[in-house]
Amino acid sequence: MLEFHLADALATRVLGGHLGRLLPLGTVVLLTGDLGAGKTTLAQGVAQGLGVDDPVGSPTFTLLAEYPGTRGTLFHADLYRLKGEADVESTGLPEYVDRTDGLLLVEWPDRWPYWPDQAVRVTIRHDAGGRRLALRGPEMLESLLGQVDDAARD
Ligand SMILES: Nc1ncnc2c1ncn2[C@@H]1O[C@H](COP(=O)(O)OP(=O)(O)O)[C@@H](O)[C@H]1O
Ligand SMILES: [Mg+2]
Repeated sequence: MLEFHLADALATRVLGGHLGRLLPLGTVVLLTGDLGAGKTTLAQGVAQGLGVDDPVGSPTFTLLAEYPGTRGTLFHADLYRLKGEADVESTGLPEYVDRTDGLLLVEWPDRWPYWPDQAVRVTIRHDAGGRRLALRGPEMLESLLGQVDDAARD
């Protein structure tokens, strides 16, 4: 597990940028945290790291939005309003899990249980005015992300 203290929203974006640059395309990232934790802010940083120009918003009403970037595409899902299997099919979620041309980031992943074992699990919590972010993933990915040379690293 890797842990980071993120003092402000910019720090959340910067860490997201590292993930967007370093994670191998095809990685699924599951983002857990309360409303307002900073999940979408992290996704905006990931978009930047992937070389996405379009502004990333909250895909709450579409469930999934695609943002093509120069390095790869950000597939950004927010499953907060997911209602069941019919919704899963209309979203095409299982196909996105298999995409290798980008990164799939999922807010509220607890709404659907079939994530790959190799998925990176990120949790964000309020902490002393900022946020505490914990990241768990396959050893290989954790050591890759250990390169993140960030003052925020605990
Ligand atoms: N590390 C941080 N410290 C303080 N505020 C933050 C941090 N990261 C994000 N925020 C702020 O938290 C608020 C909610 O962020 P958002 O990404 O929309 O949360 P979520 O998608 O988890 O609901 C935003 O105003 C954002 O700027
Ligand atoms: Mg959000």
